Amino acid sequence: MKPKNNFAFSHPLLLLLLLLLLLSFTCFSPTFCVANDTITSEIFIKDPASLISSSSSFQLGFFAPPNSTSRYVGIWYNNIPSQTIVWVANRENPLKDASGIFTISKDGNLVVLDGDDTVLWSSNVSSSSKTNTSARILDSGNLVLEDNASGKILWESFKHPSDKFLPSMKFMTNTRTKEMIKLTSWNTPSNPSTGNFSVALEVVSLPEAVIWNNDDNVYWRSGPWNGQSFIGIPEMDCVYLSGFNLVIQNQEYTFSVPQNYSVEEFGSLFLTSQGNFVQSYWNPQERNWNFNWIAIQTV
Ligand SMILES: *[C@@H]1O[C@H](CO)[C@@H](O)[C@H](O)[C@H]1NC(C)=O
Ligand SMILES: *[C@@H]1O[C@H](CO)[C@@H](O)[C@H](O)[C@H]1NC(C)=O
Ligand SMILES: *[C@@H]1O[C@H](CO)[C@@H](O)[C@H](O)[C@H]1NC(C)=O
Ligand SMILES: *[C@@H]1O[C@H](CO)[C@@H](O)[C@H](O)[C@H]1NC(C)=O
Ligand SMILES: *[C@@H]1O[C@H](CO)[C@@H](O)[C@H](O)[C@H]1NC(C)=O
Ligand SMILES: *[C@@H]1O[C@H](CO)[C@@H](O)[C@H](O)[C@H]1NC(C)=O
Ligand SMILES: *[C@@H]1O[C@H](CO)[C@@H](O)[C@H](O)[C@H]1NC(C)=O
Repeated sequence: MKPKNNFAFSHPLLLLLLLLLLLSFTCFSPTFCVANDTITSEIFIKDPASLISSSSSFQLGFFAPPNSTSRYVGIWYNNIPSQTIVWVANRENPLKDASGIFTISKDGNLVVLDGDDTVLWSSNVSSSSKTNTSARILDSGNLVLEDNASGKILWESFKHPSDKFLPSMKFMTNTRTKEMIKLTSWNTPSNPSTGNFSVALEVVSLPEAVIWNNDDNVYWRSGPWNGQSFIGIPEMDCVYLSGFNLVIQNQEYTFSVPQNYSVEEFGSLFLTSQGNFVQSYWNPQERNWNFNWIAIQTV
């Protein structure tokens, strides 16, 4: 039996018209045409709106930590049911209500504003006439502020981390310029303001990871890098998760993690508010965070 010919969908001209009609509902309407991962001076987010990275790995928006009513702009995993914050913007200056706005200011910086337009946080890039900028949340979890004209990255959250190191970040220390990328703990699990602990790569003769308590007291040392792992974290060498890397170039020491896992499978290197440095990954069966290793003070 010959199937019934549906004229409307078989005729190329009509199909084109139908497509154009569809497009007019999507792309000519400003709220739908914009990418959902981008902020500009005109397209900003207001609490409780959020952005989602292009392949939906991360979400950026407003959140309140557990047992807190203070609100912050942060980034979390989009595909993990228990909200896990990987980065916080206004960690020292919470919003007291749901009036927050995350936008690009006149000087081209990313800013968190409260209901009175008070700046609670800024990306603080010196305003060298970079007024034509936009910001995007990437699938790596990195929030980047770009100069529209040159495409140059002016600022990125991966260079200003909070308490978690994500797989595409570079844990970097430059012994010449003294530049150092540090994680800093939250004060408590309910309060993301800067806590007592920080961790970074320190280079005396050999590079090692060091946790400081209150900035200058060494709390824990990983032991030197042996080419595959830090000798004080033997669990790093486990077959299941090998591929950590440390590259030295022009006095710049850069540590990176295996790149062949999804962001959820690898999880993060996480400095807890008690000063423990853990590698936690998402276990989809248990629907929970598990740990591959925990570096803690043993004395
Ligand atoms: C953008 O993402 C948010 C958060 O999930 C969603 O509510 C909104 O509908 C999305 N907007 C568009 C234009 O896709
Ligand atoms: C931005 O710069 C101002 C002035 O130098 C400083 O007080 C503020 O803490 C900086 N904010 C951030 C988020 O670095
Ligand atoms: C910068 O680029 C974004 C994305 O292409 C665009 O939406 C925005 O309007 C641009 N900003 C300016 C000031 O032209
Ligand atoms: C911003 O940059 C875009 C891309 O280079 C350019 O087309 C646009 O004219 C610029 N806008 C302003 C306000 O300078
Ligand atoms: C929040 O409060 C409940 C009840 O007091 C407590 O069991 C839980 O551990 C708290 N969570 C955090 C993150 O502090
Ligand atoms: C942080 O250090 C201060 C000063 O030593 C101490 O009073 C406070 O209890 C510490 N907080 C945490 C969470 O360890
Ligand atoms: C990732 O690479 C490491 C080292 O080559 C390997 O042992 C591991 O099985 C790989 N994992 C995945 C999920 O591909």
